[in-house]
This record gives sequence, structure tokens and C-alpha cells, in this order.
Amino acid sequence: MSPSLARRPTVLVVDDNAAFLDNLQELLGDAGYQVHGASSCREARERAREGFDVALVDLRLPDGDGTALARELKEKVPESEVVLLTGFATLETAVAAVRAGACAYLMKPCAPNELLLTLEQAMRQVRLHEEKRELARRAQVTEKLAAVGTMTAGLSHEIRNPLNAAALQLSVLERRVRRLSEDQQSPLLEPLRLVRDEIRRLDHILEDFLQFARPREFRPEPVEVKPLLRRVVDLLAGQAESRRVRLVLAGDGGESVSPIQGEEERLRQVLINLALNALEATPADGLVRVSAEREGDRVLILVDDTGPGVPLEIRDRLFEPFFTTKAQGSGLGLSIVHAIVTQHGGTLEVGSSPEGGARFFLRLPLVR
Ligand SMILES: Nc1ncnc2c1ncn2[C@@H]1O[C@H](COP(=O)(O)OP(=O)(O)OP(=O)(O)O)[C@@H](O)[C@H]1O
Ligand SMILES: [Mg+2]
Repeated sequence: MSPSLARRPTVLVVDDNAAFLDNLQELLGDAGYQVHGASSCREARERAREGFDVALVDLRLPDGDGTALARELKEKVPESEVVLLTGFATLETAVAAVRAGACAYLMKPCAPNELLLTLEQAMRQVRLHEEKRELARRAQVTEKLAAVGTMTAGLSHEIRNPLNAAALQLSVLERRVRRLSEDQQSPLLEPLRLVRDEIRRLDHILEDFLQFARPREFRPEPVEVKPLLRRVVDLLAGQAESRRVRLVLAGDGGESVSPIQGEEERLRQVLINLALNALEATPADGLVRVSAEREGDRVLILVDDTGPGVPLEIRDRLFEPFFTTKAQGSGLGLSIVHAIVTQHGGTLEVGSSPEGGARFFLRLPLVR
């Protein structure tokens, strides 16, 4: 699932010799690497912000020392590796290179094969770091999920009992009120209705939590895409209106897509969460757009908004339970969505919409 394993590996080459930079760009480009060049420490720091996997750093740079830069780059991007280059090797420079966290040390001029081999080794290290990080992240999510499960199962039970008792007493009260004369009844019925609605809402929340803690058995059936999307958009029309955000079903609304294999109610829950997040992120007069298209043996559902988008630094954490940037958020929305999507054999990814807001990519398998 790690996105960086799928993309082209990126090498940041830091050397003030323009001809050498050119040569490397060509050699590494041909070998399938994406190459960013920098001719000074300052430029290297700037280019490092775009991200890189391996940095190839010359020891002598016009505005500083390559060993110090190597250390700085490793600190900035801990999953990366640095290979140092030098025109003349001494034991001291080799020791300094290792201390700075460089994984290898090459003498210039180095043979292309040797350089490529060293880069391959460095990339292997980078992939190991990434896998380790991904494993740690998954372990953390699993741990949190287990904690949520235990906690909610216990808590829901404890809350449900008094809640049921309150609901029961409320219906007794309601019956007694209805026995009163008309003018005595009316000022009492409205507050009673409000309390009943709130109790019902609490019960729904508990139900959600419980579903999350102990997922029911999964019974997939063919689900038509268009009615599913239509229903979600209709359900949220009121919310959209009160926020003055346009919520639309774009294109043919999934009309031409064949049915998905899944559970209608859970899929609705997924789309409601995604669309609600989009509505919450979008300022007044903005637009939230839901669309669907076929992509091989899957359907790709896009939820776009014109809000601020999701910053790169938090994209990794979005699906963690309790991760939220909202004062009133529980941070459970997307983790429930992710669990349901995974159960359906689908995937969920976040990116940017063409209008600059967030775009959620939901892929679900079609009925075979
Ligand atoms: N469309 C979006 N645009 C920008 N940020 C988003 C969007 N969708 C989700 N996020 C970010 O992801 C975080 C987690 O979302 P999630 O739905 O899990 O929780 P929440 O919305 O904060 O709380 P809850 O859904 O429980 O009310 C949000 O707090 C927000 O920072
Ligand atoms: Mg949410």
C-alpha cells in the first residue's frame, strides 16, 4: 500500500560540476531514476523539500561541506539514504562520512556500474525503511482499533441500559401527557419530542460504535451505483443547503456502471462520511461533486470538493481512528470508512481535486 514503492525512485544529485551533473542525469535517467540536480548546499536544501530517496552528495561544495549537508538531509528525510562522492579519499573523510549517516562512499571518477550498484543497494535500504514504517503504522492502527473495540463494547453496554430505561420512562410520561386537556398538552409535547429525538440519536451513535467494534457478518449483494449515489446526495441535500454548498452528482451519476458487489447500507455509510467531510471542508458557495466511472473490473467513485484540500503531512494518518483536525470531530469517520471499504475488497485513497480541494478515490469491485 506504500505509495512510494510504486513510483520511480528519485535521486538528488548535489555537485557543483555542471558537466558531471549532466552526465549523471543522463546515466541515471536511462536506468529508470528520476533525477533532481543541485549545485550547492542551498539549492540542495530547496530541492530536498520535493522529496527524494537517495542523495548523491559531493564532499566539496561551493557554500559548505558535503558531510554536514549529508547529516542535514538525513535528518530532514529520515527514510532516505545518502551516498557521498569525493575526488580523493582519506581515512578521515571515510569515517566522517559514516558518522554523518551516509550509507556508502564513492571515489570520483566512479565507473557507471559501480555507481548504479551502489544506488541499487541504497534504494534497497530506503525500501526497507519504508516497509518498516508502514508496518509500524499498521501495528499502531490495529492496536488502536483493538482498544476502540474493547472500550466501545463495554461502554455501549453501560450506556444502553440507562438509555433504554430513560426511553421507557419517556413513553410513560408521553402517555400521561396525552391524557391531559389539549391546551395543557401542547406546551409539553414539543420538549418531549426533542428528548425522544436526542435519545434516538444517541442510540444511533452507539449502534455505529458497536458496528465498528464488532463488525457484523458481511453479506454482499449486487448494489446499483446510481441509486446509491442519488440517495446519498438526497440525504445530504439539507446539510449542503444550510452550508450554502452545491452538492451534485456529476456525469451520468454512475448510470452506465454495472452493479457493485457489496452491502448497500454500509456503502451508503461510506459515501455519507466522505460527502459529509467534503461538505464540512468546503466554504460557502463552494462545490462538492460525486461521480462514478468504470475502471476495468472496478468502479471508481470520486468525491471532490473545493475546500482547502488535505495537507501532504497528514495524508498518512487520515484513516487512523481518532485522528481529527476538527474541534468537534471524533476522528472515527474515515477509519470506519476504511474498514468497510477493505471488507468490500476495495481501496480508498486521497489526493487533490482539479479545483484544488480534496479528492477521495474510492475503488470497489463490480459484480463478476
Ligand atoms: N474533504 C476533506 N478535506 C479536507 N480535510 C479532510 C477531508 N476529509 C477528511 N479530512 C481530514 O481528515 C480528518 C479525519 O476525518 P474523519 O472523517 O475520520 O474525522 P472527522 O471528520 O474529523 O470527525 P468525524 O467524522 O468523526 O466527525 C479530518 O479531521 C480532516 O482533517
Ligand atoms: Mg468525518
